[in-house]
Amino acid sequence: MTASISDLLLQWYDSHARALPWRNPPGAPPPDDPAWPYRVWLSEVMLQQTTVAAVKPYFEKFTARWPSVFDLAQASDDEVMAAWAGLGYYSRARNLVKCAREVARRGGFPDTEADLRELPGLGAYTAAAIAAIGFDRRAVVVDANVERVVARLFAIDAPLPAARKSIRERAGEITPERRAGDFAQAMMDLGSQVCTTKAPRCLLCPLSALCEGRKAGEPERLPVKPPKKAKPERLGTAYWIERDERVWIVTRPGEGMLGGMRALPDDGWSAQGDGSGSAPVSGDAQALGAVRHSFTHAHLTLSVVRIATPDTPPGEGEWWPLDRIEDAGLPTLFAKAARLALAER
Ligand code: ADE
Repeated sequence: MTASISDLLLQWYDSHARALPWRNPPGAPPPDDPAWPYRVWLSEVMLQQTTVAAVKPYFEKFTARWPSVFDLAQASDDEVMAAWAGLGYYSRARNLVKCAREVARRGGFPDTEADLRELPGLGAYTAAAIAAIGFDRRAVVVDANVERVVARLFAIDAPLPAARKSIRERAGEITPERRAGDFAQAMMDLGSQVCTTKAPRCLLCPLSALCEGRKAGEPERLPVKPPKKAKPERLGTAYWIERDERVWIVTRPGEGMLGGMRALPDDGWSAQGDGSGSAPVSGDAQALGAVRHSFTHAHLTLSVVRIATPDTPPGEGEWWPLDRIEDAGLPTLFAKAARLALAER
C-alpha cells in the first residue's frame, strides 16, 4: 500500500515540527488542562495576518499576565488594548475580550467546531483550528499557508478567491481522521518553511513526488492571485500637545480604524497633512516632520505638530507623563509619531 499524503506529512512533522510556545510535541494528545484551548485560541487569533516571530513575545506577555480565559475575562478593555499595541489589526483585541467574557460565562471553551463558531467574533478558520489543535477533533483548517500547499499539490490554477472552494474541498479530502491538529500544523509548517511563496524548496518536501504543481512546472506561480490594487495615499496631522513634561493622549472612539486604542489627537487624516488643519487647542505650534505607515487599505503620511500650551484641550483625554510614554500602549503609527516628537525635544 502506498502511503497517503497525510501519512507522509505527519511523518515529516514528527521530525520537523517547529517548537512554538503554544504547541504540543507532535503525536501527543491535547493536554487535559483548561488552559490548553485558551492558549490555542489566543495564539490562533494573534497569528491571523501576523508572523510567528511577531506573535511570540505577545503570546508570552499575555499568558504570563492572563494565564487563563477567566483571568482575561476580568481584564478591562483598556488594559487588553494597551497590551495588544504594536500587533496591529486591533479589532482582534476588541473581539478577544468580548469572546473571553462569553467563554468565562459559559465556564470554558466548547469543544466542537459548531459550538466554537457561535462565540462572538470567532470565525470559521479559528473554530476549525481550535477544534483540531485544542480538542483533537477532525476539522479542516485552511489558512494562507495551507491554501498555497493545496493549490500546488493539486495544481489548482483558478485564480483566488474563486479557487477557495476547490482548495477547501481538496484540503477536506486529505485531512485525516486522527491527528487533525498535527496535520493542520504540519501543513502550516510545510507552507512557511518549505512550500514558500517564492523559491519553494521542493527538494526538501515530503510531498514532492505527489505534487501536481511541481510536475506541471513552476509551482511558485500557484495559487494564482488577483492583481493587487494600488493602495490610496492619505495625509493627516497628529498633534503632540505638551505641558509640564506631559503629553495629551486621547482614546480613539468606536470600532473604526484603531478604535479603542490610545492615540495622539489628529485631524481625521483627510486634511492637507502640512500642519494647516485646525489644532484642538491653541498654543505655540511647531511642525516636527512626518511619519509613514501602511495599513491594509491605505498608506498614510502623518505630519506631526508640537503645540506647547498651558491649556487642557476640550473633550476627553489624559495628560500622560513623558517618562512613562512606553506604558500608554500606543499603536505603531502613533508610537512612530511619539518617537519623532521625543527625538526633536
Ligand atoms: N499560523 C497560524 N496558526 C499556526 C500554528 N498553530 N502554528 C504555526 N503557524 C500558524
